[in-house]
Amino acid sequence: MKITSICCIGAGYVGGPTMAIIAQKCPNIKVTVVDLNVERIAAWNDEDVNNIPIYEPGLSDLVAEARGRNLFFSTEVEKAIDEAQMIFISVNTPTKTYGLGKGMAADLKYIELCARQIAAVAKENKIVVEKSTLPVRTAEAVKNILDNTGNGVQFQILSNPEFLAEGTAVQDLLHPDRVLIGGDATNGQEAIDALVEVYANWVPKEKILTTNLWSSELSKLTANAFLAQRVSSINAMSELCEKTGADINELSKAIGMDSRIGPKFLKASVGFGGSCFQKDILNLVYIAKTYGLNKVADYWEQVVIMNDHQKRRFSNNIVQTLYNTVSGKKIAFLGWAFKKDTNDTRESAAINVSDFLLNEQANIAVFDPRVKEKQIINDLIYLKSRSIEDIKKGITVYNDPYEVCKDAHAIAILTEWDEFKEYDWQKIYNNMQKPAFVFDGRNILDAKKMTEIGFIFNAIGGANE
Ligand code: UDX
Ligand code: UDX
Ligand code: ADP
Repeated sequence: MKITSICCIGAGYVGGPTMAIIAQKCPNIKVTVVDLNVERIAAWNDEDVNNIPIYEPGLSDLVAEARGRNLFFSTEVEKAIDEAQMIFISVNTPTKTYGLGKGMAADLKYIELCARQIAAVAKENKIVVEKSTLPVRTAEAVKNILDNTGNGVQFQILSNPEFLAEGTAVQDLLHPDRVLIGGDATNGQEAIDALVEVYANWVPKEKILTTNLWSSELSKLTANAFLAQRVSSINAMSELCEKTGADINELSKAIGMDSRIGPKFLKASVGFGGSCFQKDILNLVYIAKTYGLNKVADYWEQVVIMNDHQKRRFSNNIVQTLYNTVSGKKIAFLGWAFKKDTNDTRESAAINVSDFLLNEQANIAVFDPRVKEKQIINDLIYLKSRSIEDIKKGITVYNDPYEVCKDAHAIAILTEWDEFKEYDWQKIYNNMQKPAFVFDGRNILDAKKMTEIGFIFNAIGGANE
């Protein structure tokens, strides 16, 4: 079967960029991205492509090229489902905030809603592709819903997890390490082949891996758990470095040169964030527990426990170093996004660090090159730890890096934006309260230079000290 019409439900960080690339690389396929969120779709359709809702290097150019040609953004979910041969489900699967599995399991209500909607609308056979990260065996539930509520048409379910990282989404999509397609080889080979052919328009065939459905679903959770585990492992060592005089950057380099370990994902930090790592590990822990595998669950849960510890440790260090009180002191945050080159703030360490410091009555001042004030305030409202009035009293958002640092007692670097390295740090120092403290939660600044200027400089894991 040759695919000429694709619909993607969910115009988010995964659906948007992925469909933009498919549209660019497959001019003969009409790609329609739909979402219930009217505001989001309007932003994707904004005349000025710089206003698309997601910031990713290179993405606005891609959208400018393909939009209106074979890439469309719409709120007409049913129409798009009806017209498509292949439907990607790329909706959010947040951690459950209620009921059974609260705080651990993935909330699949949006997935189920999609499945029910597809079943209700489809009048012809469809291929349904799970793009969102899902618990292992979700495809079974999706298939059950489709087969039991549909109009008697045939559905093939594929699992095609997305491995792109935010901030490098376009490059990751253009040159993936691998594309993973899980399906039922006995009854669904035709569907598997159809999706392979879509990717083969730009991905070398040897990088397109096909597996059974469950391996595909579980591989995605496993990949994220392994990556997060590396960050927690290096962060655990960063605390030991601080006690022993070892330097975490030297340690990372030394172990990363072992080809069995490899150099990536060994950067000590204030803690990992993002919509995937914590959510997927908690989900894995929950799945393991459901099968009674308590040792497996405990092993992986430790990765999240270590990450919480690292964020708390960073915050405590600020309070302790500032003579055990930050009450009434201006603390400037450089960065709010969970990593550089994205405007995404989900699970960003900055949220927890600011929460701890607000409890200590600090005045937090924030500057992030891509995150807007509304988002920062919403992130704190979502925590439900204080009233909106108290949040607005405690947090001020700036749009100038020198203003945010002016009169501050301390600067905390929460995101590794490249531009932070280029600032005139002498000028920043001159305008701060003295002693002037810097807490580099990303180890991006040169400790020697900062100390020479006069800062009392703190890096993670004793880096470059
Ligand atoms: C290890 C380190 O590799 C080496 O760098 C260090 O200098 C000494 O310790 P060694 O113990 O000789 O070397 O063997 P290694 O190949 O690391 O294997 C250790 C154990 O892990 C073995 O029992 C091996 O069978 C097991 N292993 C290794 C696995 O079960 N799975 C793997 O993927 C790799
Ligand atoms: C991750 C996976 O990398 C990606 O394959 C998957 O599809 C989605 O989840 P993402 O969350 O976008 O991607 O970003 P990633 O680069 O993995 O970073 C996650 C967090 O870990 C960030 O907060 C980052 O700053 C932190 N991190 C990463 C470190 O602290 N140190 C590192 O060495 C690497
Ligand atoms: P991700 O990072 O996984 O892409 P996002 O939250 O950025 O997650 O995007 C998911 C999108 O899916 C949101 O824009 C949300 O509005 C949309 N969505 C959720 N459920 C549905 C649904 N039933 N129909 C259409 N869109 C949906």
